[in-house]
Parts: sequence; C-alpha cells; structure tokens
Amino acid sequence: MQRVHQELKKLASISATPNPSVTRVVYSKEDLKARTYFISLCSELCLKVRTDAIGNTFARWEGKNPLLPAIGTGSHIDAIPESGMYDGTVGVFGGLAAIRYVMESGYVPERSIELLLFTSEEPTRFGIGCLGSRMLSGQLSLKNARKLKDSKGRDLIELLQWFNFDGQLKDIPLKKGYYDAFVELHIEQGPILEKENVDIGIVTKIAAPSALRVSLKGQGGHAGCVLMDDRKDAGCAAAEIALAVERIAKESSSIDTVATTGILDIKPRAVNSIPKEAYLEIDLRDTNVAVRDKAIRDLKNEIEIICNRRNIESSVELLNCDNPAICQKELVDAVQAATENLGYSHKKMISRAYHDTLFMAQLCPTTMIFIPCRKGVSHHPDEYSSPEQIEKGIETLALTLKSLSSK
Ligand code: GLV
Ligand code: MN
Ligand code: MN
Repeated sequence: MQRVHQELKKLASISATPNPSVTRVVYSKEDLKARTYFISLCSELCLKVRTDAIGNTFARWEGKNPLLPAIGTGSHIDAIPESGMYDGTVGVFGGLAAIRYVMESGYVPERSIELLLFTSEEPTRFGIGCLGSRMLSGQLSLKNARKLKDSKGRDLIELLQWFNFDGQLKDIPLKKGYYDAFVELHIEQGPILEKENVDIGIVTKIAAPSALRVSLKGQGGHAGCVLMDDRKDAGCAAAEIALAVERIAKESSSIDTVATTGILDIKPRAVNSIPKEAYLEIDLRDTNVAVRDKAIRDLKNEIEIICNRRNIESSVELLNCDNPAICQKELVDAVQAATENLGYSHKKMISRAYHDTLFMAQLCPTTMIFIPCRKGVSHHPDEYSSPEQIEKGIETLALTLKSLSSK
C-alpha cells in the first residue's frame, strides 16, 4: 500500500511543467513516458497488458473463469496544463495498488479484474473530454473521431501514426457484456467530503456535460482611426457572449446549471488593432438533461442576438452533449458494504465533474469511489489528498473488487 505514494510522486515528475504543477497532455512525450512507467508496474504483477488503437490500455488479472464478463476499474493519467498530481492518477495507480493488495492477500478472483488507463479524459488536446472511454462505449463514431484536430491542426489519425498502439480504430468499441461492472476511484474535486469529514463518497449520478465552440468573424482595423460606430469588433462580441454564458447559468431554474467560458482568444492580438476574429470554448453542465439543453438553446439564441446587433459572423459547433450517468444501486450498495466493513464513513453524492465512468455507464453498471481532496481544489498545483485518504480509497476499491469478482 505504501509504495503507491512513491509511484504517484514519480508519475508527477513526468510533467512538461515543473512540479508541483503537472502538465501531461495526451500523446506528448510525457504521456508516453508515463504510459511506459505504468506498463512496467503492471508487468511486475504479471498482468496481461494490451492497448487498443488509440492507446486505451487494459491490464488484466485473469480470473478462474476468464470467460465471465470482467470487473473493470481505472481512470486517466493525462493532466491539463499546470494542474495537480491526483486527478485521474489515483484511479490508475490506486487501482493497481488495489489489485496488488488483493493479490497479496492470496485471493484468486472468479471473474477477471481489468485495470484501464483511458486515453485523454481531459479535453486539452482535441477539445473533447473522455476520448478513450467515449470511443470504447461507441459514443464517438469513427467518422467523427477522424475529424478531431488539435490546436495546431494535426488530426488524431495523423498523430496516431507516430505511436505503436495495437489494433484498428474500428475495433475500439467494446461489446456490451464485456464488463460485468466498472468502478472508478477518483478524488472528489469538490469540498464536501473534507468539510463533512467523510472518508468515502459513493457516486450515484454523474452530471451531463456539454461543450460548445464559437468562432466569430468581425472586421479588423486601426485602433486609432476607425470610429466606434463603424466597428465590427469580434473581441467585444466574444466578451458579451462570455457574460451571457455566466448570466444564463445564474438565471437557470436549477442550482446545478454551471457554465464556463474556459477559452477566449482574439486575433490578431495587438494593442492597437481591432480584433477581427474571436474564438470561445464554453463548458455547460447540469445533472438534468432537459435543463442543460434549455441552457444550450438560450445561449445559442443569445449568441445570435449579440452577433446580429454587432454585425459579426458567427458559427457555433456543439462539440459534445452527453447524457448523465445513473449509477447502479447494487454497485452503490457493494461499495457501501465495503466502507462499512472497513469502518470508514461514507456519503452518497453526485459527481459534478465528468469522468470516464460517464461513458462506461453505457456499457455496464457503474459507480465511483470518491476520496476527499484539500479544500476541494483540483485542476490546480495545490490539489492534494493525504496518504491516509488515498489508502482508504484503495482499500475500499480493493474490497469492492474482491466482492464483485467473487461471483
Ligand atoms: C473533468 O476533468 C471535468 O472537466 O469534469
Ligand atoms: Mn480533470
Ligand atoms: Mn479526472
């Protein structure tokens, strides 16, 4: 159990920015180095490792009855720019620690237990989150995957040519029945568990995320010489849209509606030049699909009104618009039983962040095990969970895997 902390530290050192910040973008040299490290640890445990065509990695501990649907666990190791060392990684390296712990107890599972490292849970590179689990669950078609490009215009397929992943893209989706259940261990990324001094969160539902990409075209010009009434300032339109994003979320009938303009770029970015183009990426979520979808409609209307008034050309692309995941009661009960067995306090909760489990829920029953993180901070170098909190999460996962794989 102790060695997982060293492993997480070593993983954090594989970063494009100096620690304590961690930056590990999918298909970067850091991502590849981290994957190699993960696979070397899996080999120590004699797990059977395979990858699919986009690099989802499966490390299998074969059960006594390998033909039975397996029990899955896992998460991601990609990290958004200048983030922390626990998001996702606790589910991958903690998942490995849970398997090691169960193996050391002498237990042999009836069903196979499979640890997954999902490719690109973060949207950093391709603008779309959960790329690996989205494709595994058949929620992203090959046709749409082929259209994905990074900000430098390199497409997914072109990038994949540089890597030695196995198999073909068409073979990525898993069949229903491949897994009997999937359970992901993750830091909460919110303040509730710490505030209420609870050891383990058991997830009953994951909010429905969506993302929009907005491109605006106005007219550039000299900042001194074009009078205000003659302008088509794409930057000002973008600023108005960002405020509308905030207003629509605040005025929603639901407290669960949250919306963020996470990217706002203008061109040409010169102090004495009127912005001729602007580009926004907007993240909009709710636990209720109907409420989330109404907010998307309101936002699209608002963008049209703003752009008409300002004489700006706009194009709006809905990058993703996903369903929420409802976790299976039997699995939630299994995690609860594990916490009770271990004497750890628990709380049932909603995940407002999305996770690969959102997509695994399309394939099999799922739930998640949350552990507290300091002040709820995540996606930031200050992200922190204590060794004790991590170990409680691993023990809970280990016991859950044991009970699920025994029948
Ligand atoms: C996951 O990283 C999210 O943005 O919810
Ligand atoms: Mn994240
Ligand atoms: Mn995560």
